[in-house]
Amino acid sequence: MRRADLTEPDTIGRPSKRLHVITWGCQMNVYDSGRMTDVLAPLGYAPSPVPDGADMVILNTCHIRDRATEKVFSELGRLRLLKERREAEGGRMVLAVAGCVAQAEGAEILARAPFVDIVLGPQTYHRLPEMVARAARAGGAVIETDFPPEQKFDLLPDVAAPQGITAFLTVQEGCDKFCSFCVVPYTRGAEASRPAVSVLAEARRLVAQGAREITLLGQNVNAWHGEAPDGGTWGLGRLIRELAEIPDLLRLRYTTSHPRDMDAELVAAHAEVPALMPFLHLPVQSGSDRMLAAMNRKHSAADYLGLIERLRAARPDLALSSDFIVGHPGETAADFDATLALVREIGFAQAFSFKYSPRPGTPAAGAPGQVAEAEKDARLQALQALLREQQAAFNGSCVGLSLPVLFTGAGRHPGQIAGRSPFLQPVHLAGPAELIGAIAPVKIGAALPNSLTGTLQTPTMQPQERASA
Ligand code: 5AD
Ligand code: SF4
Repeated sequence: MRRADLTEPDTIGRPSKRLHVITWGCQMNVYDSGRMTDVLAPLGYAPSPVPDGADMVILNTCHIRDRATEKVFSELGRLRLLKERREAEGGRMVLAVAGCVAQAEGAEILARAPFVDIVLGPQTYHRLPEMVARAARAGGAVIETDFPPEQKFDLLPDVAAPQGITAFLTVQEGCDKFCSFCVVPYTRGAEASRPAVSVLAEARRLVAQGAREITLLGQNVNAWHGEAPDGGTWGLGRLIRELAEIPDLLRLRYTTSHPRDMDAELVAAHAEVPALMPFLHLPVQSGSDRMLAAMNRKHSAADYLGLIERLRAARPDLALSSDFIVGHPGETAADFDATLALVREIGFAQAFSFKYSPRPGTPAAGAPGQVAEAEKDARLQALQALLREQQAAFNGSCVGLSLPVLFTGAGRHPGQIAGRSPFLQPVHLAGPAELIGAIAPVKIGAALPNSLTGTLQTPTMQPQERASA
């Protein structure tokens, strides 16, 4: 699990109240943390980079794998000391637990950590100001983990803090797939799509604030089927075509997708929309049909291979990423070999792989045939060795190419700038800061395990540009 502090030092002046947000988990959580910061801004809360002395701390949690709950309690133990110190100094620190652990374990959090003021599930962020007011009045804890009938999307404010050159935009939430191992349908609720008009408006706003690349987010983003401006329904392929028309929006991506929701229109968008980047994260989880059925994935290995073939026909340079789970209940050595075979057949540019971790309340948690930890470890190591090899081969295959790089910020060393290739690889090189926000061609000189370096190329001018220059 990643941990990202989203807060930045206040540069405008001393804020009246200071808000520190700690984010664990997926990009949806990173986005949600930004939106929680936005809804609290009108109440006078400005981001603080540290929890010490903050008036409010939000712990935005992830429940997808591992000892999620224990991790939350150990962080809460640390925050309790800061809260007590603040109170000893005559101040107050509102402590809120948000995200999927809050949704799944709200009552347990309040029982074990009664010093927590607010517990809020992912569907209730728009109600945060009211909860803060109630917590201040009541002095007792406020818990909101219902799935309210109203759409959270419609109720969040339009005004949002700028995200930078690369921005996230949530278009879809929740999941109806019920994979055997996964908590998402329980913590994030049923699938809901945001209307196209509101997505397009937020995209235009992000671009006006400087975004040049937007990643559309959703737990099941390609299941998006939002209301169209004419009252009909669009699919994600159509939405991407419309977004690509926004001037200065140079690049589009979307994540995370389910193979079953990859329709012909979306596949065609990969062929026809140049702004749609040739990189796709498409989780397969396993290469064994027996396991895919046990996982309730609703696709076979052959379905996935056929889909990849269609995608590669649409966009021959498409680089692929995936998620894998090893040691799902019932997985035999032969099932695992089928996963290795699928990986060899496809060739991934990068991938994430995990040991199965039982999530309370999900069907697989109580299923027979739980796999021994040592066996899971061995399988994970074997799979990761193969995936690492493929990632190195993919990065190596970029050496000598000229890739268009979108520059997103300063590099690690003075005089360096950093950006991203079309395939989402970080690229670092010597270059002028003026290029930040622009795309320039880079001749890739070397591949490191997780990034590329190279040299800037002077763009070759087209004859008509020369004539008019
Ligand atoms: N155990 C291990 N991995 C899991 N994932 C989801 N639930 C579990 C679990 N219980 C992985 C899947 C999913 C990714 C986000 O996390 O591979 O695609
Ligand atoms: Fe979880 Fe993704 Fe399956 Fe939905 S499709 S249940 S989010 S793994």
